Amino acid sequence: MSQEVKIISKRFDDPKAATLDGYLASGGFQALEKALTMAPEAIIDEVKKSNLRGRGGAGFPTGMKWSFVPKQSERPKYVLCNADESEPGTCKDRLILQYDPFSLIEGMIIAGKAIDSHQGYVFIRGEYRYLFDIMERAINEAYRAGYLGKNIRGSGLDFDLYAHSGAGAYECGEESALMESLEGKRGIPRLKPPFPAISGLYGGPTVINNMETLATVPHIIVGGGEWYANLGVPKNGGTRLFCLSGHVARPGVYELPLGVPFPRLLEVGGGVANGKKLKAVVPGGSSTPMFTAEEAMGLNMDYDSIAKAGSFLGSGGVVILDENTCMVKFALRIMQFYRHESCGWCVPCREGTNWLHLALGRFHAGGGREGDVDLLREVSENILGRTFCPLGDAAAMPTLSILKRFRQEFLDHLAGKPCSCGVSGRPALATH
Ligand SMILES: Cc1cc2nc3c(=O)[nH]c(=O)nc-3n(C[C@H](O)[C@H](O)[C@H](O)COP(=O)(O)O)c2cc1C
Repeated sequence: MSQEVKIISKRFDDPKAATLDGYLASGGFQALEKALTMAPEAIIDEVKKSNLRGRGGAGFPTGMKWSFVPKQSERPKYVLCNADESEPGTCKDRLILQYDPFSLIEGMIIAGKAIDSHQGYVFIRGEYRYLFDIMERAINEAYRAGYLGKNIRGSGLDFDLYAHSGAGAYECGEESALMESLEGKRGIPRLKPPFPAISGLYGGPTVINNMETLATVPHIIVGGGEWYANLGVPKNGGTRLFCLSGHVARPGVYELPLGVPFPRLLEVGGGVANGKKLKAVVPGGSSTPMFTAEEAMGLNMDYDSIAKAGSFLGSGGVVILDENTCMVKFALRIMQFYRHESCGWCVPCREGTNWLHLALGRFHAGGGREGDVDLLREVSENILGRTFCPLGDAAAMPTLSILKRFRQEFLDHLAGKPCSCGVSGRPALATH
């Protein structure tokens, strides 16, 4: 049955695995040895066969993404690892950085061989300073042992890898803003197309993947694409790291096969904390539309099932909310984040998140007015799909889902009924 299946997390309990000796002792770099004997197309085919989909948010098929990179290019090609990990509810990439940094190095070299790139960067969330040092140590060790640099292990393959620290901006997790930032510019999104596979870092063809995605690649090369695909469900290969947080008895990062029923995932986390009832679930990080308890209990946790139900598996951040959660306050808390993190580049996002934050704050404090619920919906709808990058959508979508699924709670606030977090609907303070 779908209990934890430790593939990506298999070294999380091994304190030595973050050193090169420990990594080698636990089967590390076997995938690279195999990949060095494979043609680039054969590596891409294996990744395609595995049905690996991006673990950063959008769930795009990884093998297909790699196959978009042109074979010939006048400019250098790049492999980028997105380790910005700033989506609230998501805390998995940091475990790979801390306990298994060589698996990322190995995955990036293999990606380099697959697309004929000789340079890679790991873009690490600014707040993960202590993890940056671990990554740098691992990179230096890999250079000293000939796993990075020129003529890797006598194979003729060259690959250089650099760690780069972000400066603490959620927006720099968006792939094009990340590249702007890496180039030393303000971290704002680029217009697409062109997509990174054609014109990415410094205008060169670029593969950018989430850290978990890249760290999974060595396992696929060793075990084979078919083996990996069969761990999950059709079109959703393998396992993934689910980050369980909120009102759950044992919060943590759990590796389970894709397609695991939500009730099983909740059970692995020990159920709702303190024996309370489940009220709502965020399925894939704060930007994803949320579900009521009833909806969630019928879900399978794979990209297609969640999309069919109207949301996204996203970055794997599953937030559990119990019966005492005030959904108005939850919407406000989410908006506080997006207002703060909007990069300010496009008007609907910059202004919209600010207005939503102000309006939700006033509403929650008891200053709600007739028509506010529709106003909140309208403002959200005017952000949705109207911004350069999906940060605007990330703010609008959870808000719309809360307004739709928990409308009655907003009306109760308006009617002055006390809410579960103790703020009653009156007295009306209220202007912006
Ligand atoms: C505002 C915003 C923030 C994002 N933050 C991250 C992040 O922290 N880590 C990540 O891997 N992807 C993040 N993404 C998604 C990336 O743009 C990109 O799709 C991802 O790195 C691709 O990797 P994958 O195909 O392996 O998922 C973010 C997207 C947006 C719009």
